[in-house]
Amino acid sequence: AMPALIDSHGRTKRKLRVSLTDRCNFRCTYCMPEHPAWLPRASLLGRGEILRLAGLFVDAGIDQIRLTGGEPLLRRDLVECVRAIDSLRERGLRRLSMTTNASRIAPVAAALVAAGIDDFNVSLDAVDPAAFRALTKREVAPVLDGIRALADAGAAVKLNAVVVRGGNDTQVVPLLEWAMQQGLPLRFIEYMPLDAPGQWQRGAVVTEAEMLAAIGERHAVEALPRGNDPASPYRVDGHYPLGIISTVSHPFCASCDRLRITATGELFTCLFSAVGTPLGARMRDGAGDDELNTTIRRAVWLKDAGYAAHPGPVDRPITMHAMGG
Ligand code: GTP
Ligand code: 5AD
Ligand code: SF4
Repeated sequence: AMPALIDSHGRTKRKLRVSLTDRCNFRCTYCMPEHPAWLPRASLLGRGEILRLAGLFVDAGIDQIRLTGGEPLLRRDLVECVRAIDSLRERGLRRLSMTTNASRIAPVAAALVAAGIDDFNVSLDAVDPAAFRALTKREVAPVLDGIRALADAGAAVKLNAVVVRGGNDTQVVPLLEWAMQQGLPLRFIEYMPLDAPGQWQRGAVVTEAEMLAAIGERHAVEALPRGNDPASPYRVDGHYPLGIISTVSHPFCASCDRLRITATGELFTCLFSAVGTPLGARMRDGAGDDELNTTIRRAVWLKDAGYAAHPGPVDRPITMHAMGG
């Protein structure tokens, strides 16, 4: 087998996030501009192209792939894409996941599980309709229907909530209590300086410490030993698993094992990278696997130390929905 993908900071890559489309039916203020400029349709990779690129990463030691967007459900051949990538298990893929807003997932939840998705991360920033609307500009009801459909299909589901001051910061405890009632694991996420409008300010970040203080007023919270996960793990009321992803107050860059490719096949080695490596374009120019592998290895080796090395507002031309979240 080929040597594993490693960067110059000694971090081995195990996880690849594959964006299937930059399009999204939501307008989360921490992610999207109000009037997004979508990538040209012809530049989006077909599923054969996605499979070829993803296969190179799996051959190089990637064993977990997460499908992202925009919103993956906006891709018409989504189930076929999942089936194609599921075929990489025979080359070493061990886990295939999806991150979704779930608003359109109900009709295909069972088909996605059958096609090979092991687990779903659903973005749910609030259960209160007004707070949900404030952050996403959309309704919460279809999302709750989607979550129910996933549960009915027997799927493993985790919830993700980005907490923004003045948006859903009053919803931390209600959302936690709802998730506990449903028996669904939840992770709160610190607001990162990656919003498309570029309006992020340090003051808008509700830190892990603040969230713990709010939760601690109503519930017993116990810190668990940290694993390899980006989330710091907690146990609430002696049983419930809560995670907090605190990129801003406690960056996990030193152990980052991730890579991401956009829907046009650009490789971004860090969420905060300003430029990507255009693998899709090289492939369409006729590059062979050896050339693509060399390009991938070089880009991964040069991966930046990460947000921890230069915190604060980011000047990055690519938006979160195009990068893949
Ligand atoms: P699992 O831990 O495998 O379930 O997946 P995940 O947490 O990587 O997936 P998800 O798409 O749910 O990501 C949750 C959040 O983690 C994202 O919304 C980001 O806020 C954060 N995140 C994901 N990848 C990165 C990364 O490479 N760097 C940083 N700093 N944050 C990331
Ligand atoms: N800060 C933190 N998380 C973000 N996401 C999108 N934009 C941001 C941001 N500025 C997350 C969403 C979703 C995932 C796809 O990306 O919460 O879970
Ligand atoms: Fe869409 Fe996800 Fe971005 Fe919200 S965070 S606008 S659901 S891509």
